[in-house]
Amino acid sequence: MNFHEEFAARAAQVQNIVYRYLPKEQGYQSTLAEAVNYSMTAGGKRLRPMLMLETYRLFGGTERVVEPFMAAIEMIHTHSLIHDDLPALDNDEYRRGRKTTHVAYGEAMAVLAGDALLNLAYETACGAFSMDPGDGRTCRAMAVLAKKTGICGMLGGQSVDVQSEGQALSTEKLDFIYRLKTGALLEAPMMIGAILAGASQKEVDAAEQIGRDMGLAFQIQDDILDVTGSSSELGKPVGSDEKNHKTTYVTAKGLEAAKQETQRLSLRAVEALKSLPGENKFLEELVEALAFRRN
Ligand code: IPE
Ligand code: IPE
Ligand code: MG
Ligand code: MG
Ligand code: MG
Repeated sequence: MNFHEEFAARAAQVQNIVYRYLPKEQGYQSTLAEAVNYSMTAGGKRLRPMLMLETYRLFGGTERVVEPFMAAIEMIHTHSLIHDDLPALDNDEYRRGRKTTHVAYGEAMAVLAGDALLNLAYETACGAFSMDPGDGRTCRAMAVLAKKTGICGMLGGQSVDVQSEGQALSTEKLDFIYRLKTGALLEAPMMIGAILAGASQKEVDAAEQIGRDMGLAFQIQDDILDVTGSSSELGKPVGSDEKNHKTTYVTAKGLEAAKQETQRLSLRAVEALKSLPGENKFLEELVEALAFRRN
């Protein structure tokens, strides 16, 4: 199997795990569950739960305690996408190859579906508590999940992102936005995978730094693809940043410098990964491949 086939096979396995935690479409509130499932089953690379599982394996994890957390991170990510696409934020109509949730179900239901997914994520992750080996690692993982999603994490980043539309930004502020809005949800799975496998604090810190570099590289590549990609490959519109007058790495530094920065950060992440004890070749290839991704 080449890397792309391997990735597809693993993404399918990860997706099967995530799907086990989706809500039943029943009762008077069935439309809300439908709207949740509409976005969760629309596809997507399943990168965050995949990173969590592979980091868990890297540190020697073999149990199922990671599974509720894998579902939870994908739910939080999907919540962030539903809300990111709302008319009040980026106002986009296409996501994961489908009409966005607010186009399909209306704005009120999309707001509620995003909220419901965020809540379901924590309900789901709580399911791991009964599988704790006795040292409180599931509680520590939960704290990371909550913190990286919150005001000092993804949501904080999104808030500064929308406040900064139409403004020129310093590199320092742009990096701040990217580290929070995108990096935090890549740091979290790396850290949680390590914590659940029983890694030391030093190793968890290293995993966080790898996630941070990957996150910055990932968002810069997202900016590049917003200019150079195709909506059929991406499953979301191109030109969204220009439409919303966003300062991005591409507008601030130019396409060539942006590409170089993505590659530099990805390579640094791979090197840091290789210096950890244990080995996970697939994870190394994955981090490297993200610098050249087309979707
Ligand atoms: C898109 O994330 C949002 C960003 C942080 C750039 P992904 O590119 O991982 O989206 P999916 O999950 O594959 O749809
Ligand atoms: C989004 O950044 C980050 C989050 C969704 C938290 P973008 O707004 O660039 O993501 P896309 O391009 O819509 O996926
Ligand atoms: Mg956005
Ligand atoms: Mg957007
Ligand atoms: Mg984007």
